[in-house]
Amino acid sequence: MFDVNEIRKDFPMLQNKKMQNHPLVYLDNAATTFKPQSVIDAVTSYYYNTSCNIHRGDYDLSYQISSEYEQGRKTVARFLNASEKEIVFTAGASASLNLVAYGYGLSHLHEGDVVLSCEAEHASSILPWFRVAEKTGAKVEYIPLTSTGEMTVENFKKALHDRVKVVAVTAVSNVLGYKNPIKEITRIAHEHGAVVVCDGAQAVPHMKVDVKDLDVDFLAFSSHKCCGPTGVGVLYGKYDFLCETDPTLLGGGSNARFDMCGNILLKNPPFKFEAGTPAIEAVLGLKAALEYLETIGMDHIESYEAELKRYAISKLSALDHLVVYNSNAETGIITFNAKGVFAQDAASYLNSQGIAVRAGNHCAKILNEVLGTSETVRASLYFYNTFDDVDRFVEAAKNITIENCVGLFF
Ligand code: ALA
Repeated sequence: MFDVNEIRKDFPMLQNKKMQNHPLVYLDNAATTFKPQSVIDAVTSYYYNTSCNIHRGDYDLSYQISSEYEQGRKTVARFLNASEKEIVFTAGASASLNLVAYGYGLSHLHEGDVVLSCEAEHASSILPWFRVAEKTGAKVEYIPLTSTGEMTVENFKKALHDRVKVVAVTAVSNVLGYKNPIKEITRIAHEHGAVVVCDGAQAVPHMKVDVKDLDVDFLAFSSHKCCGPTGVGVLYGKYDFLCETDPTLLGGGSNARFDMCGNILLKNPPFKFEAGTPAIEAVLGLKAALEYLETIGMDHIESYEAELKRYAISKLSALDHLVVYNSNAETGIITFNAKGVFAQDAASYLNSQGIAVRAGNHCAKILNEVLGTSETVRASLYFYNTFDDVDRFVEAAKNITIENCVGLFF
């Protein structure tokens, strides 16, 4: 049974926090999420109880923490319906996507090849491919978006051709919150021999993501957007693809042998990618976070957020001074502007009312052509937000006017 009031008790950041003397309404969950007590406990317990290195020590504490760390990998694998050897721990979704571009793209792309992406991509999903294209002579092309900024299978088919070798797309846009048809895109991409690299940063925290069902070749996400700690993320890769991917970091833990002549024998995936001491406590925290999400149920999370979003849109659409860009998106991202008000000023006004949102281009700097504006305000919901939070947000949004924004500064 999904009970948001019970859920909120698990989060220290949701206990009587104030901002600008108002009870905090946190609507910046697409940027990062709050942590339940179980995650905080998992992180601190490491420092209190088992603060040793993994995979290196020949003593009980090191065996214990190595085993807990590998349990974390098992948990991620279960969460994504992958196998453990397909789960690489990285520093975050950005690190994962860079690893695919440099580790796989650099050795597999050639002059004239094409990486097919889209205009709504986050910088982390597209900038590494720009660099790799520059180095290999490949090109980046775009799936045209609809006038509302959506990616459709029809448009994907129009953009696809035989020189497309990589399709690099997000499962859910971090600006507009649309769920992209990844399963269908992947099926068609594979028919054309292209590899699919999926940015799952805004999908994995909010809905069931089954990599076997989607059949993507690579998928990236960050722990901190799904109630886990910062500093750790995941790259899922089909095992054969991971075998063909070069590590971008070399060092201790990732090699089986090396000699004075420079011969290096790397370990098998995923260990060949995990050189150096990792963020051990963050992996333990991620494990606790995913277990926490599993107890709530990803289906409940997805449907509750959709319900909250519909409620917010029904209220916001009555406000004539607002332009909402993504009313139809099913996820909990609401992107809007107040007519004539600079997005950052609108966010500052909401801040003055205790409401945390993000304003700007949200790291997706080429989407402005489609939206007709470079700056928007983004309110992003998570399963611990309430209908009261939405009411407070809508009440404040009613008063986003030039006069009220100017009043903040003078
Ligand atoms: N990628 C995060 C966002 O969209 C930081 O806000």
